[in-house]
Parts: sequence; C-alpha cells; structure tokens
Amino acid sequence: MRFTVKDKDAISDSKVLIVPIYQDQIKEALQYFVKYGYRRITLLENSIATHHFKGEEGTHLYLAAIKHPAENILLYGLGDMKKVHLGKIRQAIASCCKVLAKLRFKDVAVVLDTLFAAKLLPADIAMTVVEGAILGQYEFTKYKNDAKPQDVLGHVTVIGNTMLSQHDLRKCVETGKIIGEAINDIRDLGLEPGNQLTPRIFAERIRDVAKGNGIDCDIFSKGKIESLKMGGLLAVAQGSSEEPRFVVLRTHDKSFTKHVCLVGKGITFDSGGLSLKPAAGMMEMKYDMIGGATVAYLAMAVKKLNLPVNITALIPLTENLPDGGAIKPGDIITTMGGRTVEILNTDAEGRLILADALHYATTLKPDYCIDFATLTGAMKIVAGSKAMGIMGTDQALVDALIIEGERMYDRCLPLPLWDEYEEDIKSDVADMKNIGKDGEAGTIIGGKFLSKFVNGIPWAHFDIASTAWSLQDSGCNIKGPTGSGFRCVLAWLSTLK
Ligand code: BES
Ligand code: ZN
Ligand code: ZN
Repeated sequence: MRFTVKDKDAISDSKVLIVPIYQDQIKEALQYFVKYGYRRITLLENSIATHHFKGEEGTHLYLAAIKHPAENILLYGLGDMKKVHLGKIRQAIASCCKVLAKLRFKDVAVVLDTLFAAKLLPADIAMTVVEGAILGQYEFTKYKNDAKPQDVLGHVTVIGNTMLSQHDLRKCVETGKIIGEAINDIRDLGLEPGNQLTPRIFAERIRDVAKGNGIDCDIFSKGKIESLKMGGLLAVAQGSSEEPRFVVLRTHDKSFTKHVCLVGKGITFDSGGLSLKPAAGMMEMKYDMIGGATVAYLAMAVKKLNLPVNITALIPLTENLPDGGAIKPGDIITTMGGRTVEILNTDAEGRLILADALHYATTLKPDYCIDFATLTGAMKIVAGSKAMGIMGTDQALVDALIIEGERMYDRCLPLPLWDEYEEDIKSDVADMKNIGKDGEAGTIIGGKFLSKFVNGIPWAHFDIASTAWSLQDSGCNIKGPTGSGFRCVLAWLSTLK
C-alpha cells in the first residue's frame, strides 16, 4: 500500500475522504474545513444533522456524491475524546479502510487534524493511522484455490495541516508503515500451518528476510545445538521427526552503545507431547512460534528505522510431539548452563527451550534481555485478551515497558516474581521442576522458572498467550495473530540512546 503526505489542498482532490470525529465535536470538526477555506459545507452540515450522526464510538456516516469539501465523505465516530487511545484510532481507520475497499475505492484520503486530542502525541496519531490502514487490509488467502481477487486499497493520502510539519508527518507515515507491515508479516508466519512451517522452514524464511534487510543471520542446526549442549531444546525436539533449529539475528554498529537481546519462543506446533493436549486445546497450537516471529520482525524494524541500538534476536525452534523417543514425565534433563530440570509435564515445553536461549543470551552480556512467549494458558484466565503478562528482574525496565505499552495501547499487566514462589519449582530429584502446583499461579511459575536462567542480566518476560491470537475479525484484527508486544517493545527500543 502506498502513502502520500499532503496538506489541505488535497482535500477537494480526493475521491473519498475519511473524517474521524469525536463524540459531540461535529462543530469543531466542521470548523476545520471552514478554517482551510472550504466554505461550501452546508450540505455536509445538514446531512450530519438529518442522520443524527454524533460521533459515537463505532458509528459511521457515508455521504456519497456530496461534492464539498470532497466528492464522497466517510465520517467515523471515535466516541469520547477524553477516553481515546491509539487502539481506538487503529481500529477506526482499519474499519474505514475496510468499508471503502468494499465500496471498490482504491484511493482514499484521511484527515488527521480532527483526530487531535490533548492526551495523544500528534506523531503517534499519524503513525497509528497508517498502521491501522495497513492492518485492516490484511488477508491470508495463500491456501485458497478459489479466493477472489480482493478489493484492496492501493493508495492512502494522509492530509495533515496543523499537527505536524510535512517533514515530520512523512517520518511518522514511514514508521507506521514499518510497524503495520511487520505485524502483517508476523501474521503470515502465525497463520502458516505446522506442516508448512517446520523449524527448518521457519529459519530459512527468516534468513531470507534478514538477508534482504542487511541483517546477519546464523542458523544452528542439530549438530551445533548438540555441541552447545542446549539440553532443553534437544529434549523437546526429541519427540519429533523434524530437527530443531536455533536462529541468531544480529544488527551491529560499533557506534551504538546499547545491546538488547530479544528471545522468542519458537514452537512450530505444540501438541503437548506425551502430556497431550485435548483436541480443542491443540487446534490453534500452530501459532506457538509467534514470540519467535515477533522478535525476528522487531530486529528487522530496528534496522529499517535506524534505531541506535544493537539487537541480537534468538529463536529456539522445534515441534513438541509425542513419538517413541519423546521426553517422558519424570525425565531429568540438563540445560545449557548445566542446571538440571525434572520434566513433570511435557506440555510446559516453552520454558525448556527458552532456558537454553536465555542462557545463550547471557553469554553475550547484553544490557537488557527481553523474551516473548505464548507460555501459559493461565494468562488468558488472568487477563482475558486485554493484556499480556509482564514479569522481570529489573523493575525500571518493567516499568518503562509498561509505560510504552499504555502509550501504544499494547497493554502489559505486571505480575510479581516473589521469592515465595521459589518453593513451587523445587524438585525432589533435580535443581528444579518445570511445573508448579496444579492450578496455582501458572503464569508466574513460568516466569519464575525462566528467571533462573538470566544470570543477573536486566530481563523482562512477556507472556503473550492471552493476547497473541484474536478470536474475532474486527477492525484492525483478523481471526489470528495480533502482533501483541511488538509495538510496546519497539516504542521502548526507540527510547534507548
Ligand atoms: N503453548 C502453551 C500455552 C498456550 C495455551 C498458549 C493456550 C496459547 C494458548 C504452553 O506450552 C502450555 O501448554 N503451557 C501449559 C503449562 C502447564 C503445563 C504448566 C498450560 O498452559 O497448560
Ligand atoms: Zn505446551
Ligand atoms: Zn507451548
């Protein structure tokens, strides 16, 4: 999708103009047109009054052939200005673009100035508009033989006059485009079925994208994983006929002072192993690699945005399947750092592969380490789909991430890693066990387990099992991956110097 930045003169040129409007702010919004010399708006005013359009959240009014100030106009209600956040803007623009694409428009314009709200930064608004437009046009039709060629928008003109300079606006549009496209790429990976996206294919796809972006990519195959003694990754992989992989992506510039390791869970299919999941719980487990996809595209975005920070993204990849060689409840394994783990539930496999990846990260001595994982179903019980869980060993890091998550509307719910939980992962026969007490604090226990492998590096853990997959197709969401965590961490990375 192409984007062009223009000022008010583009209003009358546009075939269809999106005008977002806050509740009970019609007058102010119309004032905007008057201010910029579009005086013939009586018809617009009258139509709004006749249709009782008030700008309530989620309502819209499409006015065809109205001519002034544009040929066709789509008014979209954002609800109470005091309650707006970037999530609402993202949803609204995605919905507008969907409506207009269905009406066969290829080329639309969107007014930015009516979106201005005291609690939001103009740059964030502009970026989010672009992101919403891109996310709303996503479709995954790769495996449908009879998919009709879709009605999609090809071009969006972003019209901004007073909020930002044209130069700054252009930069925001570029950032929004990078974020929107990255999340769509993450969706592409998350929607691939397990048989099409094995650990080997995942790694190769990431390598190809990394190459195109000038990012170093190493793929460790089974031999190298064995020589590194990554016992957690090997243990999970031993029940599958597909070999594991370990991907290392690296952006490096000597002049940058900060180094951040991003670690992502890469289970390309999670059956639970011998602790087999019930059929209903297994259905969506092709997306158990979404943490891995998220960190890969974070590395790409950092590079594209030229952020002054070095990134190493680490993705342990394997299937979790129960064949004759599979790990069994009661087995004891040795992870990369030498710690032994008693595996009491083979479905708690994410923490086993992350244990090795986190240990590997500590050997690189980064300033920070952040991991993303669809780690525990319990996270959904804690927060529904409204927030991901965040835990960590460095309060300042966790606090900073929560702030960016609120700002980007990519929300994090903090959970504690109190010493008292230590008891729960004590094993009778090994250094630790991979589960706690049945039904108790499952998400925290997952985080507590991981904390044993970070060796003093400031670390934060995102449990995205609650938010990573949307059950509904609405606004900027499809039924599938949401890209949760991506915006929050990219925003935080943008603050590093
Ligand atoms: N991949 C799952 C967690 C998950 C569940 C992600 C639902 C997304 C949606 C993970 O590997 C798992 O199975 N965790 C277990 C942990 C338990 C055995 C301690 C769980 O949540 O039941
Ligand atoms: Zn599992
Ligand atoms: Zn899993």
